[in-house]
This record gives sequence, structure tokens and C-alpha cells, in this order.
Amino acid sequence: MMIRKATLLILATSLLLPASLQASPDSGTEALYQQHCASCHGSDRLGGMGPAVLPDNLSRLKKPQAEDAIRNGRPATQMPAFADILDPESITALAEYIYRPPATTPTWGQAEILDSHLLPHSHGSLPEEPVYEADLMNLFLVVEIGDHHVTLLDGDRMEPIHRFPSRYALHGGPKYSPDGRYVYFGSRDGWITKYDLYNLEVTAEVRAGINMRNIAVSADGSYVMAANYLPHTLVLFDADNLELMDIIPVENDAGDSSRVSAVYAAPPRDSFIAALKDIPEAWEITVEDGQPNVRQMQTDTWLDDFFFDPGYDHLIGAARDGKHGLVINLDTGKTVADLPLPGMPHLGSGITWEYQGKRVMATPHFRTGAVSIIDMDTWEVIKTLETEGPGFFMRSHENSRYAWVDVFFGPNKDKVHVIDKQTLEIVKTLQPAPGKVAAHVEFDRYGEKLLLSIWDNDGAVIVYDADTLKEEKRIPMNKPSGKYNVWNKINYEEGTSH
Ligand code: HEC
Repeated sequence: MMIRKATLLILATSLLLPASLQASPDSGTEALYQQHCASCHGSDRLGGMGPAVLPDNLSRLKKPQAEDAIRNGRPATQMPAFADILDPESITALAEYIYRPPATTPTWGQAEILDSHLLPHSHGSLPEEPVYEADLMNLFLVVEIGDHHVTLLDGDRMEPIHRFPSRYALHGGPKYSPDGRYVYFGSRDGWITKYDLYNLEVTAEVRAGINMRNIAVSADGSYVMAANYLPHTLVLFDADNLELMDIIPVENDAGDSSRVSAVYAAPPRDSFIAALKDIPEAWEITVEDGQPNVRQMQTDTWLDDFFFDPGYDHLIGAARDGKHGLVINLDTGKTVADLPLPGMPHLGSGITWEYQGKRVMATPHFRTGAVSIIDMDTWEVIKTLETEGPGFFMRSHENSRYAWVDVFFGPNKDKVHVIDKQTLEIVKTLQPAPGKVAAHVEFDRYGEKLLLSIWDNDGAVIVYDADTLKEEKRIPMNKPSGKYNVWNKINYEEGTSH
């Protein structure tokens, strides 16, 4: 209400004053926003029934696409078309407006988090038996970003069991509880949703921030940690009911604050590890008696994206300059190696396997068509495998001879490479749907079958035999992005991300 009054005042003043003396060049657009958009996107642009419309939240949407959404609406959603209501100049002005930071930085602290908490089914109140029959360890969740839904798939029969709506724009992979019964989703706008896979019900939700990167669940399943871009916080929740436990402001000793790029669970260490965007530090957070303790590790440069060796003794971080990766010993906090990884590695999707008696890791690159294969004892790059373009995801399974990497960017985005893990050569290149992005593989629990996404509104997941590489079937889906197998995730299978 306060904001509306202020807006009216500005409007009134703007009628009386010459343009050069007006309070703000935005005041007219601000008024349009309050009149036409605020009811769904919030008077402060933090979101409501519709998503948040703030610059950070819109970073993946290009301005012309935003303009198109305003002009034509989004079919089959609540987003109306404004082409008949607003003139073209107003639509352009509104599209400009939502990419500008608000006059005052919005806050999201204890009061807002507590206020947002929803608890449809408190922990332990729903039946202990699943409402369907399937191998609960071989379930997959498929995130369909096209219309913000999630499909639960039976990994034995490769048939959908259930499909349910998610929060707008899920971000970072969903995380399972250690027993595989619950799954936690994080959304771009900061919502954490806890979902009961036995009863097919949302049990708890909370909004941890305004713009969130991802969440992690502690190895013992007791805590959930959220990594935020806005505000600059890590937020700790009790995993049972998503009750707020603590908000950790993210800043260094000099008082400079930072966005959090991502948070990871480190099971053997019983800790969380956080990658910070704006200060050259990595954080390890342990929780004792409900209190988080932060250990700050200074690093030689800004590190964005982390990978861990299987024992969580080392972290490998991608340097922000996109030219190398640093290996840090997590006990001493010291840098032990500097890897030449020139094309901005996507370490978050790295995998490991046994090769000639030693463990190697492999990572695709965002900017070069190459997969780097690294010896994890000597931290040397033993092979740079050329691909048909930059990749996003790499996947395998302990029981499979092959590793899969997509060509996510560039003209060959519809191709995927199959790499023989023992010869380190590409043995096959598939192009399952010409012209459409083919990306992200996830194996079933046995490593016998795998799912590949056709990343399109008129898309599918394709089931392959992991050994013969033959297609078995296509299950239609609306822009399926990630797929998450319960067994592989809760057992930290070597061929998938965590
Ligand atoms: C009746 C509710 C409603 C109103 C009014 C409304 N929107 Fe939306 N808007 C939505 C919903 C819901 C979505 C998400 C649609 C989807 O699922 O793709 C959305 C999506 C958007 C998007 C795309 C966001 C993204 O991250 O992809 C933009 C931009 C947008 N709206 C701007 C506006 C503007 C500007 C106005 C006012 C002129 C407005 N909206 C009015 C409900 C509304």
C-alpha cells in the first residue's frame, strides 16, 4: 500500500513539473508496472503468483524474449498478453524497467523466511508405504523446465508413474534424503520444496532467498543448506520441516560480501562446502548442536564451480578467468596443483573412473570443444579429447564401459559423443533428433540403461541400452533438463554429479 501511495504521489508531481525536474525517469513505467504487473509479480518485483522480475533472476532470459512474453503472454500459463492493452512503447519501457535494479535493494531476512514457511504435512504425518509399486531405488526424477513440472519415472519399466508441478524455474539438481524417500527441490527465486516420493505430496516449503543458486542436503539427512545470490547469504534449515535454523551472512574479514555460486555436501567430512562468487575464498561449514561453524579457506583466485575427489580430500575449482583449475587440499586449505584447463571447465558435471589402475577425472568445457582427462594422483592432464563443440554435461556409471558427453553449444548441439573409458577415444557420435539439443545423460542404478534428453518443448527422454548403444524408446516430455536416479545419487555413484 505504501508503495502504491508513493507512486501516485510521483505521478501527481510529474504532471505538474517539467520533465527535467521529475523525480525519476522511471516513474511513468513504475506506475504502469504497479497497475498491470504487481498483482502477480509483486509490488517489489519479488514475485508472487508469477516469478520474480529482477535483473539477477532474469539473467537467463534475453530482453527481447521478455518483451515477447509481455506482448504475447505465455500460452497455457497465467501470464497474459498485453499487446491489446499497452502501446508498443510502454511494452518496451516495461521490458527495460524489469532489467534495472530496484531503487532500494530488497531484503530477505529472518522475518521474510519465517513468513514464507508452508507445512502441508508435518514430518512423520504421512503413511510409511509408497502408494505405487516400483523399485524405490531405481526411480528417476525428470525435471521438465518447459512448463515447470517434474516426472517420476519407474527405472525398471521406464514408464512415468506421476507428473506434478514444480516452483518456477528449478535451479541446481534436486537432492534426495539419504534413504531416498524425500526429495528437495530448489528454484531460481529461492523456494525450497520438500516432496514425499512415497505419498506423492509436497510436505514443506520455504523461501530461502530472492535469487538462489542451489541447495545441498547433509550426509546424515538432518540439514538443508541454501546458496543465495540475493541476498548474500547461506541459509540453514532443519530437513524435517524446513524450519529456519540460521542465516549466515557471506562476507570476508574485511567486510566485503559475496554472492554464493553453489553449496555442496561433503559426506566423509560431515560438512557443507560453498563456492563464493565475489571473494577469493572457499568455505567449509559444519553444524554442531544446531549451530553452523564456518571455516574460511583463502584461495589464490576466485573459484566458481567445484568438483571433489571421491574421498573429499581435495576440491578442484574452476578459476574465474576460465583458463585453469586449482586443486585445494581440504585439510590444509592449501593449493596443491594448478591445472591447465583453458576453455572454462564445467567441473560441476565432472566424473571419475578407474583407468590403468589409477583414478582419472574428466570434465567438459563451456568454451572449447574438448574433454580434459586428469590423473588424480599426479594432477596432470593426461588427455585432451577433441569434441564437436563445447559441452555441458558428462555422465557414466561404474558398470558401463562408456562415458557420454553432449555438445551443448554451437552448431552441433544436436550431437552426443560416446567415449570408451579404457581407450579414451570417441567410439560413437549420435544425433538422435536433428536440429534439437541432445543433452544430459543419467544411467539407471545398474548402469544397464540410460536416459538422454531432447531438450525441447516438443522433446523427449530417450532410453538407450548402455552396452549396445541402441535406442529402446522415447518418452515425450516438455524440455526435460536433468534426470536424477535415486540409487546413483544417494550412493554418490562415480559417474554422476552430486
Ligand atoms: C495474472 C498474473 C500475471 C500478470 C498480471 C502479469 N504476469 Fe508476467 N507472468 C505471470 C506468470 C504466471 C508467469 C510465468 C509464465 C510461465 O510459466 O512461463 C509470468 C512470466 C513473466 C515473464 C517471464 C519471466 C521469466 O523469468 O521467464 C515476464 C518478463 C513477465 N511475466 C512480465 C510481466 C509484466 C511486465 C507484466 C505487466 C505488464 C506481467 N508480467 C503481468 C503472471 C502474470
